[in-house]
Order: sequence, then C-alpha cells, then structure tokens
Amino acid sequence: MSNSSTALIVGASRGLGLGLVREYLKREWRVIATERRPGSSASLSALASDALTVEALDIDDEAAIAALAERLTGTSLDLLYINAGVSDDSTVPIGQVATAEFDRVMRTNALGPMRVVERLSDVVTQRGTIAVMSSALGSVSSEPSAGYDVYGASKAALNRLMRGYAVRAGGDRTLLLMMPGWVKTDMGGDEAPLDVETSVRGIADAISARSGTPGVTFINYENAVVPW
Ligand SMILES: NC(=O)c1ccc[n+]([C@@H]2O[C@H](COP(=O)([O-])OP(=O)(O)OC[C@H]3O[C@@H](n4cnc5c(N)ncnc54)[C@H](OP(=O)(O)O)[C@@H]3O)[C@@H](O)[C@H]2O)c1
Repeated sequence: MSNSSTALIVGASRGLGLGLVREYLKREWRVIATERRPGSSASLSALASDALTVEALDIDDEAAIAALAERLTGTSLDLLYINAGVSDDSTVPIGQVATAEFDRVMRTNALGPMRVVERLSDVVTQRGTIAVMSSALGSVSSEPSAGYDVYGASKAALNRLMRGYAVRAGGDRTLLLMMPGWVKTDMGGDEAPLDVETSVRGIADAISARSGTPGVTFINYENAVVPW
C-alpha cells in the first residue's frame, strides 16, 4: 500500500481502536477515526494532525450511520475497520440473561457493525478491505469455554452475517473477521498476555498481506486462519 492510503477506524476512543489509529498513522496512512461522543477521547484528540480526521458515530444509531455515509460521499477508503464492540457479564448463563442485555450485546456486536458495512461499503474501493473485529469466542467449531454466552453468540452471529454479506455483495473486496488475541484493554483486563501495540501491529501486517485477495476469511492477529 502506498502512504496515500486511507483507513476509517470505527470505535477509536480507546483500547484496540485507538491502537489501530496510532498504528496506521505511524504507517503514514490518512485516518478517519470515530468516537461515540465528539471530543470525548483525550487520547484520540492528542493524535490530532493533518492526517487524522475525527467523526462522531454510535453504531447503535442507524440514523447516525446514514449521516456519516452522507458526509463521506466522494471519499475513497482502502480500509474500513469496524472495531467497536461491547462485552457482557461472562458469568451469567443464557437462561438468566435479561432480554434487554441480550438485545444490547447483539445490537452493538452484530447488527451495528453490519449496518456500518452495508451503509459504507460504497466508499470502499473495489479492491479495498473491510475488516470487522471478531473474537475466538465467535468460532462455533472450536470447543467453547464456559461463560461469555451472549458475547460469544454475538461474535458468531457477526461472523455468519459477514459471510452472508460476502456471498451477496462482497465483490472483489477483501473481507476479514479479525481475532485480535487476548489483549490488555478495558475489555480484555490486566491479566491479558498481549499488549495493544503487538496486537495492532500484527493486525495491520495481516491486512497488508491479504490486501487484494477477494473473499471472506476469519483470521487472527498473526494472520493464521481461525476455524469458523
Ligand atoms: N481485548 C480483547 O482481548 C479482545 C479479544 C477479542 C475481541 N475483542 C474485540 O475487539 C474490539 C475492541 O475491544 P477492546 O478490548 O479495545 O475494548 P474496549 O477497550 O472496551 O473498547 C471498546 C471500544 O468500542 C467502542 N464502542 C462500544 N460500543 C460502541 C458503539 N455503540 N458505537 C461506537 N463505538 C462503540 C468504545 O467506545 P466508548 O469509549 O465510547 O465506550 C471503545 O472505543 C471489540 O469488538 C472486542 O469485542 C477484544
């Protein structure tokens, strides 16, 4: 990729999303980064430069996604990366999960990202990449660990929805479900073995290696295929 490439990173206020913004700026890309509330992330504001544009987006808000698509008309993205996601209480078994909690996690982790993909794909170049942050817990063929029932189901749903999108509308684009590893963030916790810098460096290298390869693949931050 040349250094005139452009990435849109959705959900960039902290954690892996913020790390991806730092990584792509370091690689001399132009970056459009989103946060839910404008100006709310001091860490994102601190990265201000001519190469960085910050937009507001809550992926639970369908009208806000449409408004962002409108504002981006005429933009050409080499990479659309949807990182935003939420966790749940890993200890609550599915039979005890409140309906509103089930709806919250499914909406933000599965429906929201796919609405962004569907609404913004027009501004991704024909040979560009659309990547969405998934999780090992979304692999239905791997032996599930106890806990994270709804979170794991939401990432499995995301994977399935992205595969459906690939068949229907993927074209020549590179479509990736990304497993970032277990990473030290607010979500991953302090005991996670990986730091953000290692994960996002691997993710950016994997995207670069797979750029221009059409089809949908579930991979990890070391560019190894993860079983569906
Ligand atoms: N950390 C790990 O070990 C790990 C492992 C596997 C997968 N993942 C996935 O990686 C992604 C990032 O995780 P992380 O560890 O960096 O988590 P994090 O530190 O909790 O950050 C989550 C990010 O998502 C944003 N977000 C949440 N809901 C949103 C919404 N409705 N609209 C827009 N943005 C929203 C947050 O924005 P606010 O600041 O506004 O809340 C924040 O920027 C998630 O999809 C997660 O499921 C993480």
